[in-house]
Order: sequence, then structure tokens, then C-alpha cells
Amino acid sequence: MPDSLINAWRSHADNWITWARAPGHDSYWRFHREQFLDLVPTSGRCTLDIGCGEGRVGRDLSARGHNVIGVDACADLARACTSHADGCPAAVGDAAHLPIRDSGADLAVGFLVFQDLDDLDGAIGESARVLCRGGRLHLAIVHPINSAGRFDPGRDWPPPFVIDGGYTRPFRYADEIERNGLKMVFHGQHRPLREYTRSLSGSGFVIETLEEITDPSDRDKWARIPMFLHIVARLDTNGV
Ligand SMILES: C[S@@+](CC[C@H](N)C(=O)[O-])C[C@H]1O[C@@H](n2cnc3c(N)ncnc32)[C@H](O)[C@@H]1O
Repeated sequence: MPDSLINAWRSHADNWITWARAPGHDSYWRFHREQFLDLVPTSGRCTLDIGCGEGRVGRDLSARGHNVIGVDACADLARACTSHADGCPAAVGDAAHLPIRDSGADLAVGFLVFQDLDDLDGAIGESARVLCRGGRLHLAIVHPINSAGRFDPGRDWPPPFVIDGGYTRPFRYADEIERNGLKMVFHGQHRPLREYTRSLSGSGFVIETLEEITDPSDRDKWARIPMFLHIVARLDTNGV
């Protein structure tokens, strides 16, 4: 396994570009995009797309009128984001050391990124630094129930969801997925929900919304267990 999560993502950049851009291929296109974007407020001064990848979220936000700047620690992905015909500018940078000035943004989004970060507290602290007071951080993460467990294929249908390694202890994982001829390895870090909530409140955020995202079309599996979690947090005007 690569020494860090970001090096793991760097080694899969090409596969990710193909995967993320394949029409209708993954959850973003199938059911996740609208649910995430519907929570995002109308455009403001500057929207930061943290962990922008090849840029699909930023392109969708730009089409809705947002002035988007992407940041990704993987140079190949930041380049792919910028060079796309409808792309937005993107800088190479770590979420825990954002190349953005203090209070430079009024909205920051992190779509399926924060469960992939080596330094969660650093990234949330940096999000607080670059947002103006009252600014919002919109996160979609792999639901901690999802990363803690798995459907057990060896038993009756519908398969039971089992958490045999425990929920409360953080651990790294690498999920290898092959679908429709495309391969991707998702490297991430399981963290219990309290690691996110403590980190957010420790950096002066107030959580406004938590939404658990299921896949209603997958009746026997992901309609029963939430796949993703949306968190909307506002930087408190009385924050730290
Ligand atoms: C699952 S992809 C999501 C990409 C994009 N948000 C999307 O939904 O298409 C995770 C992204 O997080 C980026 N990433 C991982 N660690 C990072 C870090 N420490 N700082 C910035 N980006 C990071 C990866 O390079 C990758 O682009």
C-alpha cells in the first residue's frame, strides 16, 4: 500500500479521469450529483473546490454561475481540471495547506474528498482559514457506516451488512472496483463520524445539515444502508 493517501491517488490519476468522465458510470452521474448540488447555495464571490480531481463538480458549479477555483494535491488531476474545454482554474495544493488567502472564499466544497485525506484536522482548519465568517463548507463523504463494513455475500439474500472490524477505530482501506470494463482503486481512511464533527466544531464550524444518501435503485443493498453522508457546516461568526 502507498505510504500516504495522496500518493495512492497520484498513482491512480489516469484511471480516475477515465472513471469520472465515463457518462452515467458512477454514483455521481447516477444519483448523487443532484442531491449534492441541490444543497449548495447560489453563487457568491468565490467557490473553492477542494480535491477537485479532474473537475466535474467545478464544471457543474460553474454552469450554475459559481466562480470556481479548484485545488488538488495531484498535479495530473489539477491539470486535467484546467485543460478541460469547460474547465475552471485549478491549483496544485494540499487541502491541509491551501494556496488561498485568508477569508478568500465564501463557499468551499469537498466532494468525496475528506475521507481520502491524510490530515483531516489540517484540512478542516484550512477550510476555516480561507472561508469568510458565515461562509459554508459543503462536504460529501463516504458514510462512516459504509467504510466500516461490507455486505456479506456468503449468506442469504438480501445480504446482511456486517461490521466485523469495528466502527470506532480509524483505519486505512483500499477498495478495488471493476465495473463496465473500468478499474479503480479507492484509497481512503475510515473515521467514525465523531472525528468529523469534533474537527469541524474545533475549527469554529456549526453543522447545519446532515443528509444520509442511499441508492434507491439498489433495493437489497444500498437502499438499506447509507452510502454517502452530506455535511453542511457554517463558519460561526463567533467561531474560534
Ligand atoms: C474521489 S476523488 C474526488 C474528485 C472530485 N471531487 C470528484 O468528485 O470528481 C478524491 C480526490 O481527492 C484528492 N486528494 C486526495 N488527498 C488530497 C489532499 N491531501 N489534498 C488535496 N486533494 C487531495 C485526490 O487527488 C482526488 O482528486
